[in-house]
Amino acid sequence: MFLSAFKKPLVVGAHGQLARAFALLVPQAEVIGSDSVNIADGAALSAFLTRYQPDVILNAAAYTAVDAAEDDMTRAIAINSAAPLMMAEYGEKTGAKLVHFSTDYVFDGSGTRPWQEDDHTSPLNAYGVSKLSGEYAVLTSAADVLLFRTSWVFDGVGKNFLTTILRHAETKETLNVVNDQIGAPTYAPHLAREALRALDGAMQEEIFPSGMYHLCNEGFVSWYDFAVALINEARAQGATLAVKEVRPISSADYITKATRPKNSRLDSSKAKTLLKTQMPAWEQGMKEAISEWMNARR
Ligand SMILES: NC(=O)c1ccc[n+]([C@@H]2O[C@H](COP(=O)([O-])OP(=O)(O)OC[C@H]3O[C@@H](n4cnc5c(N)ncnc54)[C@H](OP(=O)(O)O)[C@@H]3O)[C@@H](O)[C@H]2O)c1
Repeated sequence: MFLSAFKKPLVVGAHGQLARAFALLVPQAEVIGSDSVNIADGAALSAFLTRYQPDVILNAAAYTAVDAAEDDMTRAIAINSAAPLMMAEYGEKTGAKLVHFSTDYVFDGSGTRPWQEDDHTSPLNAYGVSKLSGEYAVLTSAADVLLFRTSWVFDGVGKNFLTTILRHAETKETLNVVNDQIGAPTYAPHLAREALRALDGAMQEEIFPSGMYHLCNEGFVSWYDFAVALINEARAQGATLAVKEVRPISSADYITKATRPKNSRLDSSKAKTLLKTQMPAWEQGMKEAISEWMNARR
């Protein structure tokens, strides 16, 4: 069982992709979401932490609406920066461990080399700025923190690229998908499992290996190639889809409110070496997510 060293684990983000995966892997955890504790409300979060006294916080909550964040910076900062800061300050005071997550969107997407943890950050959008601010908040605290930057999180039931493409593929014959943004689609249950494995390992160390680690499924792909692969896989698993053609388009032809980085590749070798993480290939995550998607429809 994961986290047997802890008596009062807390999962934050209840209905989110990563939080759901944590809740399944740590059934002994208390799980809170915005319907029970609004973490944008500092007083509510503080009161909850004081009352419940967790000894480890798995913070899977975030303001993840990338385009909406452009007009909602105050709320994005409250959830993505002020709340993690409060969790880290609580950890500093009580010794509770904090596991927190950030994003490839802290980088500007230039070049083709996979980003390393200490590469220069320069977010292109408000969501990225709010997440970067959350990174500073937790890393400058004296709490024991594992901070994982990840990318393109998906599962078979959440609101994400995979479920969106499959929904459209059921009714549309042609789909246009950008082919000039490259990254690692990361399956939430794999991310949760390896973060927990890393935390359990960290607890065995004489000095807790606090810091920033990149953690994504193995391999890189464009959104276009991911879409083609997942449509093929869904058909192989028996899905009936209307789609006949997937067309590659450039980001310039797909205007969104927030600009996305083109090079979203994260180099996960530090976590592999120091935390002994073993993330499977993204294709494995995709297969598992599609079977989850198929099961949810039966
Ligand atoms: N999704 C991606 O593609 C992606 C990419 C890179 C990094 N990340 C990072 O990975 C982590 C997990 O992301 P995810 O994909 O699992 O996100 P998600 O599915 O969007 O879930 C985020 C959850 O945060 C909770 N939340 C939001 N506002 C809240 C509030 N005011 N009070 C309490 N809870 C609140 C919500 O939980 P309830 O539903 O219970 O209210 C929501 O479901 C986040 O740190 C995210 O920034 C995600």
